[in-house]
Amino acid sequence: MPERTPGGVVPWAEVDRIPGWLTRAQAELLQAVVRSVHPGPARVLEVGAHQGRSTCALAGARRDVVVTTIDPFVRTRRYAGPAVRGLLAAHLARLGVEDRVTVLATTSAQARRGWTGEVDVLHVDGKHDYWTVTDDLRWVEHVVAGGAVLVHDAFSSIGVTLALLRHVLPGRTLAYRGRTGSMAHFVVTAPSTADRARMLAELPWWVRNVGVKVLLRLHLRPVARLLGHTGADDPY
Ligand SMILES: C[S@@+](CC[C@H](N)C(=O)[O-])C[C@H]1O[C@@H](n2cnc3c(N)ncnc32)[C@H](O)[C@@H]1O
Repeated sequence: MPERTPGGVVPWAEVDRIPGWLTRAQAELLQAVVRSVHPGPARVLEVGAHQGRSTCALAGARRDVVVTTIDPFVRTRRYAGPAVRGLLAAHLARLGVEDRVTVLATTSAQARRGWTGEVDVLHVDGKHDYWTVTDDLRWVEHVVAGGAVLVHDAFSSIGVTLALLRHVLPGRTLAYRGRTGSMAHFVVTAPSTADRARMLAELPWWVRNVGVKVLLRLHLRPVARLLGHTGADDPY
């Protein structure tokens, strides 16, 4: 069993052993947002668990947290399918947070049918096409006023960004607070003109990231480096 601080916090080194795409800074943002929920327990809803890298960051933020994470664990070109569910369970158990997490092995849309609970923190990191993200954003209806909505790959994926531009930018529910890498942070409150302008100002960075991804697919890493991308992996 890994060592934890008295607050029931799981150290980053343990979360970092779980494969996934979440960066340390993004895990710290998730944890800070969960810790800012007063009084506990903090109610967290996550779309897209995979092996549990972000799930464990969320569940390891504090002892009094209740995380529901949703993933259908279907096999695709990118994801390994049902075997991932076992890996997720093993990671939750290894970090000792399994009693803080409920795993719903279904799609986000299916899980939302009949859902009545309130949510303090919503993390969206499921399927990244425009239509699925559009549907995932309907979870915002369950987030309390002042609650947090974190969207991974918000400015590095065409589908996610287009859904945000179409449904969040002109909307009256989510105010943009900023980003950590490609993770966007919104708060459930009426957005100001400045909030909308700040979101629009991220678009050049999004175009750059999509360009980097195309260059990496074309094995043109030296050209991606000219755009300031030093890693071998996609920008997250
Ligand atoms: C980018 S991964 C999630 C990564 C995870 N948050 C982490 O930190 O490692 C996306 C996940 O979304 C799941 N997924 C695909 N379609 C989904 C849907 N309709 N609802 C919920 N999750 C979905 C995939 O099975 C995959 O495990």
